[in-house]
This record gives sequence, structure tokens and C-alpha cells, in this order.
Amino acid sequence: CGIVGYVGSKPALDVVIEGLSRLEYRGYDSAGTAISADGKLTVTKRAGKLANLREALAGTVPPDGSQDGNTGRSGIGHTRWATHGPPNDRNAHPHTDCTGAVAVVHNGIIENFAALRLELERRGHELSSDTDTEAVAHLIEEEVAGGASLADAMRRVCLRLEGAFTLVAVYSGEPDLVVGARRNSPLVVGVGAEENFLASDVAAFIAHTRDAIELGQDQVVELRPSGVTVTGFDGRPAEVKEYHVDWDVSAAEKGGHDYFMLKEIAEQPRAVADTLLGRIGADGRLSLDEMRLTDDELRDIDKIIIVACGTAYHAGLIAKYAIEHWTQLPCEVELASEFRYRDPILTRSTLVIAISQSGETMDTLMAVRHAREQRASVLGICNVNGSTIPRECDGVLYTHAGPEIAVASTKAFLTQLIAVYLIALYLAQVRGTKWGDEVFAMIQLLGTMPQKVERVLETVEPVRELARSLAGERCVLFLGRHVGFPVALEGALKLKELAYMHAEGFAAGELKHGPIALIEQDLPVVVIVPSRARPILHDKIVSNIQEIRARGARTIVIAEEGDEAVAPYADTLIRVPAVPTLLQPLVATVPLQVFACELATARGHDVDQPRNLAKSVTVE
Ligand code: G6P
Repeated sequence: CGIVGYVGSKPALDVVIEGLSRLEYRGYDSAGTAISADGKLTVTKRAGKLANLREALAGTVPPDGSQDGNTGRSGIGHTRWATHGPPNDRNAHPHTDCTGAVAVVHNGIIENFAALRLELERRGHELSSDTDTEAVAHLIEEEVAGGASLADAMRRVCLRLEGAFTLVAVYSGEPDLVVGARRNSPLVVGVGAEENFLASDVAAFIAHTRDAIELGQDQVVELRPSGVTVTGFDGRPAEVKEYHVDWDVSAAEKGGHDYFMLKEIAEQPRAVADTLLGRIGADGRLSLDEMRLTDDELRDIDKIIIVACGTAYHAGLIAKYAIEHWTQLPCEVELASEFRYRDPILTRSTLVIAISQSGETMDTLMAVRHAREQRASVLGICNVNGSTIPRECDGVLYTHAGPEIAVASTKAFLTQLIAVYLIALYLAQVRGTKWGDEVFAMIQLLGTMPQKVERVLETVEPVRELARSLAGERCVLFLGRHVGFPVALEGALKLKELAYMHAEGFAAGELKHGPIALIEQDLPVVVIVPSRARPILHDKIVSNIQEIRARGARTIVIAEEGDEAVAPYADTLIRVPAVPTLLQPLVATVPLQVFACELATARGHDVDQPRNLAKSVTVE
């Protein structure tokens, strides 16, 4: 979910709606606002995307802005990814108590909400939604009715809540105040001149200020036009860390593209270059000092476990091939949501690498905490500066993809690959490896990757045509071997996320053990062919292509320039620049992103906001 809060001299409704529009990637099941003016709160909320809320507001706020809702100078807003209760108007946030004096928005799950609801109902409260959040509004109202300030009420109520929550509240009795509380789910403060902001992500207020404060775990913030006060849940003043956001509002806008996803695909050469920047020395060696793990610590590692979700998990699967090859360290890759529910064997010499674009994914965060409790060292690969995961890790390597707003990850994925290659090569450099020369050569080659990705983008038009011609299909399969296998998984995930089609990725060699039964006449099958530099892989996959073609499949083959051996078996041939096999995912993934994006657009879908998804999932 995305949360916004504002106090200052501008019309709060406008600021809150604008903020929500920049947070919609976090969920778009419903949206709502609560604006405080003249001693009362005006709450408006609607199921569906923000556009529905805007429409509802347009019906009530006259163009001169004279209505209460627009003249209010403080307010809160929410864009929801539904957890408790279906995404209808009633369950949309903000939630209010019976008197309408307190309004609350919430991100996360309050685990003891059933008990709290029961307790409130026993005391005569009537709850009108199915959400866990509404209980908080009633609890806060009880406290303020008893004479507590909103901030004290919030602190007391937070002490009674279990689970993960970020809450922001307004109270009609204190119109120049917005109070936020944070446990686990993200919340940042934007510091302006005579105005202040609260949001799940700096993108919400970047048009107004680039000065921000990170809120820590279990902290309450009081936001007034004149300043910001932060305390713990116990009321003791907390130390805060101010920082300056190093990108501006244009980075969070579409810049002439129809969709953020198209812009982000196009930005990949730059994102890859930015992630490499300053990390390859003039002597051709890597320096990753910022990572916060010492070379001695890295020499002591005897095993690596990677945890991640979704697309980041696919980056982890590719990392395993690179790490095991260049460092000879055993490497496991685990879905973060599964990790802490088995009994992973972790010791002080295990390095756990958590990959997360947002740095907020709850499944990954919980895996990080579990690993640290077992005393493993944890290294984060994250894109969002100062987010929760890097703050809780022992070390971090930031990707520099810039803000990624489209729900389906593209440029973040490519930069995650760069980060894992850097880590694998750095470990090899520090620890020494039998592949010393190859490691040195790979570091140089990494520096040429932005141009290679650029070349793929320049030659990608036929992929768009192909995608449009397949818009009526029901199913597409993806095959790969070695690092091509995770690329196949990623290609299938993109198509599922965006085009809502049955799409599956398989290890090409596994096909004959079952999935080949799916092949029927004209079924489109995308095959990622490894570099010819590894004949043993390459030749096997050429045989696999023949096997599926013999059974009627329509073959779409992604192969490196100059690979003529595959041409006779390809119904459509997509060329990518020749690079070593381990680096091939950097070029082979790009056509698959374009393919999914174009196919989904041809089917009439909004690729930036696919149904049921959210970019940053802050619940487990
Ligand atoms: C969500 C998104 C995916 C993303 C995953 C992990 O499920 O829809 O696109 O890959 O979260 O996100 P993270 O921010 O941890 O990389």
C-alpha cells in the first residue's frame, strides 16, 4: 500500500492526491483521502484505481476549490493493495471511528486485530468494515476522547498492536497535525519550508522537497507546519537521520513514453552504466569498499545463500551460476518466503545475499532477520537508498537503476545482475581463484555491457511485431539451459504479470520429462540459446529445438549474432550481441521484456499497473 500525509499552507487535497498518483505502483485496489478543515474531517474513498477517487472528488469540489475538502491544510491519503477484506469502497482507507473525529490509513497487517475488534465491540463500538485498520481508528478515538493528544494516543495504541504496520492519522481536534507510526513497513518524512510530508516513498513528495528523514523501527512522528518531532513508542525522543534525495521529479515521470515500463526498458543501458560506475578501477580491479564487509570477512565465507522474491529471485538464480563458477563457493538460492520456514543450515561463515529492488519486501526482510538471528552475515542488493533491508543488513551493494515505477521489474533486474556479477568477481578477486585471468577479462567485459544492451534496444522492433502477431494466443512456453533457464523463467513471469497469459519457463533438458506433452501444433515456444563458446550447452539446445519443432511448436529463437547453426530451426530468429554465456542474461532478457510489454499492450492491458499486483509487497 502507499501512504501520504501533509501539513502546510497548500491545499492538502491537491498535495495528497498528487502524492498518491506517484505511489500507485504500491497498490491500486482502492484509494482514499481524509482532509482536516474547520474542526472536521472530510473522507472520500473509492474502490479501484486513483482515477475513480479523482472522479468522485471532482463531483464534490467546485472548481474554485472553496469546498472544505480542498481548503484543508492537512490531510492523509492511501492507495491500497488489499489484504483484509475485498477491495470495495467500504474497505478502502482511510478508516474512521464512529464519531468521524479520527481517520487512519495503514500499510501492513495487524495480527491481533480480531481480538481488538471483539474488545471494541464489547465496549459498544460499531465497526463498519472488514479491515484490521478500522480497529486502530476506534482505539485512537477512545484515547483522544479520554483527553490524550493524538500523538500520545498513537503511541499507546501502537504498544497494543501486533504485526507489521505503518499508520498515519489525523484528528479533527488537532487540525495542524498529522501523526505517523512505523513498524516494519516503510515511512519517510519530507522536510519542507513551513510544510512537511509523510509517505511510503520519497517519490510522493519529491516535487516539493528533496530533504528527507528516515523513520526507524517503532517510531512515532508528529508532523506540524513548523516542524517534525520523532519519538519511540515509549515517548522518548528519537535520533533521526536526515538525507538528501539524489534524483529529482523528472526521474519519477514518464518523460514522453506512454508507460513507465517503456521508459524503464529504454533506460537500461544508463542504469547498467550507473551501477558499474566507480566500481572498476583504472588497474582493472574491482573496488567495492562501500559494501561494508571487509576482505577478511569475505575470505572466511564458506557458503552463500541467496534469498529474494519474484524477478529478484531470478537474478539470484543467475547469480548462483556466476558465483559457483568464479568463486568455487557453494551457493544456494531460496525463495525468501520459504527460507525461514525450513531449517536452513547457517553458520558465521555463511554469507546470505538478499536481493530486493524496493528494499521493503516483507518476505525478504523476514528472511534477512532470520539469517541474522542465526549469526550469518547478510549482504543486501537493493535499489532504494535507505530502505529497510539495506539498513538491517551487515553490508549493502546498491544498484543505481533510479526509481523504478512500473510494477514489472526491468531496469532493476538488469542492475541486480550487474551487482551479483560484481560480487561474484570481487569474491574471486579477494579470495584468489583458478580462473584469475578469466575474472580479470570479465571485469573488463562488464564495462562494455551498456553498449551491448543499447544494441539490443536498437534492434528490437521485430520483437514488437512478433508480440503483436501473438496477441491472440493463450499460452507461450520459454526454454533455456544454464543461465538461460532463469532467463526463461523471467520471460514467462513477465508475460504472466502483464499479459495474464499462461506462460511457463522450463529447463530445456527437463522438457522431455513431462512438459513436452504441452507442445501442440503452432504453440509458440521461446528458446534462449547459449553462446557458442560453450558448445556442450549450445549443441544440446539445438537438439531440444528440433524436438519441439518435430512436434509442431512454433519456435522463437533468441541466439547470438553469428550463430548460424540455429537458423534452420527457428520460425523467428531474434539476434542478441555475442557475450560470454554467464553474462548473456543481460542481453537475452531485454527482448523478452519488450515482448511481454508489447503483447500485453496489444491485448489492451495497462502494463504499469497489472491486475492484482503491487510493486512493493510489505506483507508476508
Ligand atoms: C513484487 C513485484 C515483483 C517483484 C517482487 C520483489 O511481487 O510485483 O515485480 O519482483 O515483488 O520485489 P523487490 O522489491 O523485493 O525486488
